[in-house]
Formats: sequence, structure tokens, C-alpha cells
Amino acid sequence: MQQLALSVITLLLLVHGHEGSAVGDPGMKRDGLRVAFEAWNFCNEVGFEAPHMGSPRAADCFDVSSKYSKAHIMLNHSPHIDDQSNTATSGYSLAHKVSDSDNELGIGKPKPGIISELALHNPDLYAVEKELYLGSLCQVPDKPNPWSFWMVMLKNGNYDTKSGLCPQNGKKIPPFSQPGLFPCFGNGCMNPPTLNHGKTELLGDGQTMRGWFNGTYELEADLGNGLDGISYYEVVWEKRVGVGGWVFKHKLKTSAKYPWLMLYLRADATKGFSGGYHYDTRGMLKTLPESPNFKVRLTLNIKQGGGPKSQFYLVDIGSCWKNNGQPCDGDVTTDVTRYSEMIINPETAIWCNPKSLHNCPPYHTFRNGTRVHRTDQGRFPYEAYHVYCAPGNAKHLELPVGTCDAYSNPQAQEILQLLPHPVWGEYGYPTRMGDGWVGDPRTWELDVGGLSTRLYFYQDPGTTPARRIWTSVDVGTEIYKEDEAIAEWDLSDFDVLIT
Ligand SMILES: *[C@@H]1O[C@H](CO)[C@@H](O)[C@H](O)[C@H]1NC(C)=O
Ligand SMILES: *[C@@H]1O[C@H](CO)[C@@H](O)[C@H](O)[C@H]1NC(C)=O
Repeated sequence: MQQLALSVITLLLLVHGHEGSAVGDPGMKRDGLRVAFEAWNFCNEVGFEAPHMGSPRAADCFDVSSKYSKAHIMLNHSPHIDDQSNTATSGYSLAHKVSDSDNELGIGKPKPGIISELALHNPDLYAVEKELYLGSLCQVPDKPNPWSFWMVMLKNGNYDTKSGLCPQNGKKIPPFSQPGLFPCFGNGCMNPPTLNHGKTELLGDGQTMRGWFNGTYELEADLGNGLDGISYYEVVWEKRVGVGGWVFKHKLKTSAKYPWLMLYLRADATKGFSGGYHYDTRGMLKTLPESPNFKVRLTLNIKQGGGPKSQFYLVDIGSCWKNNGQPCDGDVTTDVTRYSEMIINPETAIWCNPKSLHNCPPYHTFRNGTRVHRTDQGRFPYEAYHVYCAPGNAKHLELPVGTCDAYSNPQAQEILQLLPHPVWGEYGYPTRMGDGWVGDPRTWELDVGGLSTRLYFYQDPGTTPARRIWTSVDVGTEIYKEDEAIAEWDLSDFDVLIT
């Protein structure tokens, strides 16, 4: 009997172990939440801090405990008692791990042993060291690696070419003048936002936990006067103790001064570089997913799309490898960020077509391995691609080609943007424009690993293909670029499964 029980357990472990989670908090179900915030400027740095806001990194991490015994918690979970009164159900408390003073750390504020001399007056480096420190406060021991938090990432697309703040394909360049090429209203347009933080707390019912971040890029704005004419972002997270999972409710609004904004929820690597970030990072991916063996599961409920320019990414994957296929090592002149994402806004223009081949990858690979060249008009699925752009430092590109923006990352980048299309259906992705859009909330199980293994990415001829190991998996939108556009969505059940 005991042997049978043991083999049943072994069998269960085998079946379960087959699809292990790569994230520390599978499906966002853990009561003791770990969530952090980061704001990036145009080239994924800080540049300068907003007055009185500290370094744009913050975290909200806590464990849930019961004031009573374990037996009492079990009782509380019984539906009979749940229905009675607050007194029977208010036995929980939250033990926070990050203090207000930790979240307020910013340049000029020393923290011996945490913030180095070099970083003390350097806004870019200060943010890096603050993120590592917040990561240590939130860290959860686990196998194969400890992990720290989900990351809310906010990015301002303004670029002041006269600021000298961003490199060109990873190479430092002096300030230059190119009016109209990038959005910028003038001096200071690359500022970080204000950040208001409602630490997670238990609501009056004694069971619902809720916390939030919100703010604006218009530093002088009074949020109490409504949102007309100003930018706004908000993330609210909510869950009942012991029930279901966290729901992350997002809002993003652009303004005339800030028409290009991005807001994502990211599962980033727990160490090393994450997508687009050339410093040591902290995150949620205790195991790094590698193509083709992983899936992404999530529930997405889009309430407002953000207008025709909202590039809503059902899922975006980010990584880094060199053009010779070698892994990145922090040398920004040869490291290349690689991104691929599916845009599910049905209003998205189809830029890749037979008349604009520079917007298409050189070839498409079907699931069965058959490759078709983009000049094969009968067979190439043009409508499956929004745009392809090549790394600006690639030496052997097939023409015609468009290269990616040279300034918006710390290093060169390569981007492949997909659109819903029947060729992606085999991987569980949407096949029709409008699938999963406003009014069509869905739970997706995407074979991101299978799809990404067949995508085109540039490599120097004759070099060994790079291992496609993804250091970031994100969901959210990039509004590029429109004034007064509003997007609103809920994300839950997020998981990355190793298959
Ligand atoms: C920021 O969030 C808090 C909590 O939900 C809310 O009270 C406040 O009004 C929000 N700010 C704005 C401008 O909506
Ligand atoms: C592979 O799939 C494509 C698209 O479905 C099809 O056109 C092609 O004939 C297939 N090739 C093979 C060898 O089965």
C-alpha cells in the first residue's frame, strides 16, 4: 500500500515536473507578493532624477501572516465561516520588507555597503545599485535560483538629441541637432515621472490585499485636477488571501508633451542582463527560458486599447547576443538587444508587404522547417509581420533593409514585430486581427519557445547559431506616438513554463 502511494506520488511528480515553472511566483498566485517599479529614459538609463522622487526604482514586497494559529486559518477558509462576519475573517497581517526610506533612496543619499562612491552622484549607476539592494530585500530562496520580483517598467520615449544622454548603437556620441526626428518639447523632456506608491494593505474585509503605483511625467501637474492634458500611469494589484491569483490593473495615458510612453509588466532574469538593460538586474525568472522549450500562460483583459498607435504586446520577449552568435558580455559596442513581440491591436498598419520588403525579415520559416524568401510573393506570409529592423552594427545585411533606431537602447538592437495570422496559430497565438482585443478577454497558452526558435534573427555568415535564451518576458503597450491616448488592461495568471 505504502509502495503504491509512493509510486503514485512519483508519477504525479513526473507529470508535474514535466512542465516546471521558470518564474518564482507561478501564475501570480503567491499571497506574499513581490513587485518592483523601474522608470527608464529613452536609452534605458535614468539621465537625471525628478526632484524629490529619488532614484526611479521602488519595490513592494511582503509576507502574509496570521495572527492566529494555523488551525484558525483553515477554519477561516471554510465557506460557512467566511460568510459570517469580519471578525471571523480578519486574522491576517502583512509584514513589509521594503521601507519608505529604502524606496526614497536617490543620488546624494549614502548607504554604506549598498551604494558605492562611484554611484552616489551618478543617477544611472545609482538606479542599478538600488535595484540590486531592493532585490536583496525582496529575495525569496528557491531552486535553482533565488528570485526577487515582478517588474513594472515604464519608459519615456522623448529624446533630446542635444542632451548627449544616449549613445548611437552603443557608441558615445556628442550632442546633435535633428529637430522633429524624435518627440521632445525642449530642455528636460527626458525626465523621469513622479511616483506615488500605495503600499499593499488589507482592505476592510480583512481578506482583500491591494497596493498601487501611479504618477505622471508632468512634474508640476496637480493630479487632483483630473488627467486632461497630462500623462498618467497606474498599476493596481489586488488579491484575496488564499484565493486565486493577483490581478494587475494597468492604465497608461499620453499627453502632448509625452506622446510616446511604454508600460509593461516584466518577468526579468534574476541576475545578469535582462532585455534592453546592460547592467546586472533582479527579477522573477529563476530559470531562463530557451527556445524551443517553453510556453507562456497569461490572462489578458484589455479594456481600452490606447488608440491606433498603441502597439499592444500580447507578449514581448527580449534577449541579447552578439552578431557572431556569442552571448552578450556587457561590451555595448558589440552586444545586440533582440526583441520579438506580437502586436494585437487590430488597427496596426501592415508595414511589411511586397512593395516594402525592407520592412520584412529576409525569410519566413514554417513550423515544418520550410523556408520561404520574402520575394516569393505566392508563399511569403506578409500579413504575419508588422515590421522587421536589423541591428545597426550588422555588416552583412541582405538588402533592402531598415535598421532599428540607433539611440533607444544602450546598444544596437534588432526587432521583429508580428501580427495575428494563421501561420502563428500552430503556436497558440491569435490568428485573426481583433482576437484577444477589447471586449475579448482570454487566457492564452502560447508556445513562445516553438515560435521563437523559427524566427529570423541576423547573424554574421558562417557563425554558430546563437542559443536563444530569453532574459525578459513582458506584456503591455507602447503608445507610439499620439497625444491623449488611453490604454487600460488587466493581467493575471502570468507564468513561463519550461516544457
Ligand atoms: C493614484 O492612486 C490612488 C489609489 O488608487 C488614487 O487615490 C489616486 O487618485 C490616484 N491618482 C490619480 C491621479 O488617479
Ligand atoms: C510546410 O508547410 C508549408 C505551409 O503550410 C507548406 O506550404 C509546405 O508544403 C510544407 N512543406 C513540407 C515539406 O511539408
